[in-house]
Amino acid sequence: MRILIINGPNINMLGIRERDIYGTQTYDDLVDFCKDAAKELGVEVTFFQSNHEGTIVDAIQDAYGKFDGFVINPAAYTHTSVAILDALKAVSVPTVEVHLSDVSTRDDFRQISYIRSYCVATVMGKGFEGYKEAMKILIDGKDAHGE
Ligand code: DQA
Repeated sequence: MRILIINGPNINMLGIRERDIYGTQTYDDLVDFCKDAAKELGVEVTFFQSNHEGTIVDAIQDAYGKFDGFVINPAAYTHTSVAILDALKAVSVPTVEVHLSDVSTRDDFRQISYIRSYCVATVMGKGFEGYKEAMKILIDGKDAHGE
């Protein structure tokens, strides 16, 4: 099973940005964590991070036919981007939405997620572990469909 892990703006600043919310570990630490998790779960992972909405749309389009699932943390674009939602719908790959922090307890403007209606599940507030949980959800979903 091939999973693409997509991270949006400022996730490359992990370890520097708002450490009280996002912790002290870096984006590279997140990639290492996901690689270890993928190995344990027996899936292939590819990583993509961008600070630019259109570049994320391009990456989702480029992934068409190449991946069995997406794990996506669109970061701030979660709360604003119809374009990312439309790209996900266009390629129609099972997708799990992840947030490091528990956005449900944060600012009002973080309560909207444009992609959530499309995603098979949302995992939030579990830090790096949330990405592993998202991978498991995709694996279980695939097993459930007997593919
Ligand atoms: C985030 C939550 C978003 O509201 C925020 O804009 C981010 C990160 C998270 O992982 O908790 O950049 O997606």
